[in-house]
Amino acid sequence: MSELIKVKQQGDERCQGTSYQDLLDQEEVEVPAYLRENTNPYMGDEDLDVARWVGREFHELEKKKLWPKVWQMACREEDIPEVGDHHIYEVINQSVIVVRSSANEIKGFINSCLHRGRILRDDDGCVQEFKCPFHGATWSLDGEFKGIPCQWDFRHFEEKDMRLPQVKVGTWGGFVFINFDENAEPLEEFLKPLPEHFARFPLHDYYKGAHVQRVVQCNWKVGAEAFMESFHTIATHREILTFTGDANSQYDTFGDNVSRSVTPMGVASPHLPGVTEADTMRDILELSGRMATDSAEGHEMPEGLTARKYVAETNRKMFSDIIGESLDDATMSELEDAILYSAFPNFQVWTGYHGNIVYRFLPNGDDHNSCIFETMLLMRYPKGSQRPESAQKTVLRPDQAFSEAKELGGLGPVFDQDDSNMPAVQRGMLASKKGAVSLASYQESRIRHMHQTIDKYLNA
Ligand code: FES
Ligand SMILES: [Fe+2]
Repeated sequence: MSELIKVKQQGDERCQGTSYQDLLDQEEVEVPAYLRENTNPYMGDEDLDVARWVGREFHELEKKKLWPKVWQMACREEDIPEVGDHHIYEVINQSVIVVRSSANEIKGFINSCLHRGRILRDDDGCVQEFKCPFHGATWSLDGEFKGIPCQWDFRHFEEKDMRLPQVKVGTWGGFVFINFDENAEPLEEFLKPLPEHFARFPLHDYYKGAHVQRVVQCNWKVGAEAFMESFHTIATHREILTFTGDANSQYDTFGDNVSRSVTPMGVASPHLPGVTEADTMRDILELSGRMATDSAEGHEMPEGLTARKYVAETNRKMFSDIIGESLDDATMSELEDAILYSAFPNFQVWTGYHGNIVYRFLPNGDDHNSCIFETMLLMRYPKGSQRPESAQKTVLRPDQAFSEAKELGGLGPVFDQDDSNMPAVQRGMLASKKGAVSLASYQESRIRHMHQTIDKYLNA
């Protein structure tokens, strides 16, 4: 092993240079405690068998022991604003009607008729009762049985058996989560410490500015993992290196279910020596797609300022003008960095004052070699003004590029770059002679963390 890659002790691997915590030392406002957390217990370096992604047996185990037990994000509350509005949430062979049963209550019912088992609701929509399309058996929005035609022929139906079976429902940040396990821990416990870390970002007040879905030809975990590390920037997103501290990212794990990566922006990659502050400032404004402006025209960097500081101040002013609130206590980090959290197993959400990006990766029906990728952009709007209408979901065909969804703006081409890897990873794993995947100790620790949590479910 060369001197270069020898480390003091396993678990200590870090890129040299300015760390994220060093950058926090340069903040001029008080740094909130959640940004100061820096926690990444060493989890080992063993290879992982490709069967975890490409094996049918592993998928069957997940189907039996993971999905029936875990909290999973079903939709946004804003998707079902009125009483009777419902969303059909499907995972592998399971189907749930997530319904606003009264003004302040959301319930989840197994989407299967108690007569001969037909799917009760085929699609999202709004109804005042659930009436089965096959023979007309009917339930209230609360799941109470209301009757079936020719009731005389069903004297054997006992009222106590005729309530629609329910799933657990919880909400956080304007998201509706469901859990099939009636003994599951409360959602708030499961998500810890995510709600506390989002205290400055009340996502339940934000509205969905974009929602795009597409099938990707890879296992759902390959999809999720594509967004769990910034290590791939150097080969996959080269054009952003002048303003992305890719290898200086911080990776944290919190308990079994939550992890995050923080990638400093407005600083050049340690892979690229000699980038000037002016280059960084110009490129981040032109290319990032996540800053308050997407053009560097008219931006001249004052002498003595860093690009990070200049861009943060530009964002601070423009974001606060848009929302009509002061952002004087916002850190530079929250104004420009890429701070991405994941909640096990398949939900990911960005924090920060720019539009908050959300990802979800679901198995595509019962196929373990493809998944359904969804992304949303959550937006803020001026205080006191009417909440803008939520965006309708755009469903792209499998052969369409993400950049065809214009509502994604600069993110579309970035997803296309990620999409150049995801199906290729699946195919490469199927072709692998090594039969195993190796992970970087630190930069890919969030991936190992997710797999270790999966094992806790599968071995339970
Ligand atoms: S299957 Fe639903 S009413 Fe017959
Ligand atoms: Fe990427």
